Amino acid sequence: MKQKAIYPGTFDPFTNGHLDVLERALNIFDEVIVVIAENSQKSSLFTIEARSEMIMEVIAGYSGVSVEVLHEGLLADYARQQGAKAIVRGVRQVKDFEYEFQMSLLNRHLYPEVTTVFLMPNVKYTYVASSIIREVALLGGDVSKFVHPTVMDKLNEKREERQSKK
Ligand code: PNS
Repeated sequence: MKQKAIYPGTFDPFTNGHLDVLERALNIFDEVIVVIAENSQKSSLFTIEARSEMIMEVIAGYSGVSVEVLHEGLLADYARQQGAKAIVRGVRQVKDFEYEFQMSLLNRHLYPEVTTVFLMPNVKYTYVASSIIREVALLGGDVSKFVHPTVMDKLNEKREERQSKK
């Protein structure tokens, strides 16, 4: 039987660190669904649709991966509906762990058949987070090493949009 995993996140925007984790997941699972979900504790720069389009461009050429959007509801319910056995999460630093630990145990409570698998990206991405990429890019800093060219273009568009409103 094919082993299916979901890789959820806000991906605002998707970084090369996310791609690194996705590639590692694809080495383990037959099928990985990247699930773009909202995090009630964060406000986003890109709409969920824009994030989805960007990720689709980033993963064009990869097999075994698809992109879905979770507009509402629990991730655990989505994982159950999909028959996913695993939830993949990337951990970069020890400080990520507390939140990840809580989420993984809550998701297990909600859907006992699911196991959260933590994957570490390449060490060169340990300090890459969407939040810092957004901030630096919107202030005109060069983050092209950390995101796909499509994402870089969209970040530049956002920066220009904001500048023209000033
Ligand atoms: O990239 P993030 O912001 O760390 O991802 C967090 C995310 C989107 C995976 C989490 O907030 C989530 O699962 N949201 C969907 C709603 C849900 O199920 N919340 C309860 C999680 S225990």
